[in-house]
Amino acid sequence: MLKKSFVVNKNLYSVYKKNKNKKYNYQKVLWSSKISMTGRYWLLNKLIKNKSYNNWLDIGTGTGDIYKYINKNKFQNIDALEPINHLFKIVKKNNSDINIYNQTLSNFKIKNKYNLVSCIGVIQNCGSSPLLFLTKVCKIIQKNGYLYLTSKNINWAKFKSEDYNLELDHSWFDIEEIKKILKNNNLKIIKSDGFLPKEKKIVNYKLSHTFFIWARKN
Ligand SMILES: C[S@@+](CC[C@H](N)C(=O)[O-])C[C@H]1O[C@@H](n2cnc3c(N)ncnc32)[C@H](O)[C@@H]1O
Repeated sequence: MLKKSFVVNKNLYSVYKKNKNKKYNYQKVLWSSKISMTGRYWLLNKLIKNKSYNNWLDIGTGTGDIYKYINKNKFQNIDALEPINHLFKIVKKNNSDINIYNQTLSNFKIKNKYNLVSCIGVIQNCGSSPLLFLTKVCKIIQKNGYLYLTSKNINWAKFKSEDYNLELDHSWFDIEEIKKILKNNNLKIIKSDGFLPKEKKIVNYKLSHTFFIWARKN
């Protein structure tokens, strides 16, 4: 199924342990800069504008910096998953109004379905098969509910030049393969392309190392 993607299966807990003591939150969740982290939240804000959602699940919420940028009042309920203990403690401390579970998606028992699910920078290091992970993601979305997903793009044109090599310590995906998994699980792709997080710009998918997908459950 994932023939064009490059998938590494690493221990999730050792991946995030190495930056545990870094000073800034963006470093703790392995983003290259604060602006590249918040650019991804900017795009989510843009996509959810003018719509109201009652139930949002953020999978792999990291340090929870996202809640400083998204208006929490838009939602009746917010649930979040963060399996890494030291990250979980940071989110918990600053967000008493959110239900945060110290769990991976595979351990999470589904009680509710959601009309917004976000998964920002998670599948490249999700510690399990991206196919199983995404199948479960699709299951927890309500009919007419939305998915926002960002990840690493294997088709970035710069990888064809000699100066840019694929970092082999996390997974890189072919966007069409990810879209196919979502479609097979009853999602309709509304928008998808490349995204330059620092510039806050949607571009052709070949022009960025990051892609995004905005999809709706049928
Ligand atoms: C690159 S960080 C991004 C954090 C946050 N979404 C953000 O945008 O700042 C990826 C996060 O996903 C979490 N994660 C990885 N695999 C997961 C899984 N299987 N279930 C839930 N969370 C997971 C990691 O612990 C980490 O906090």
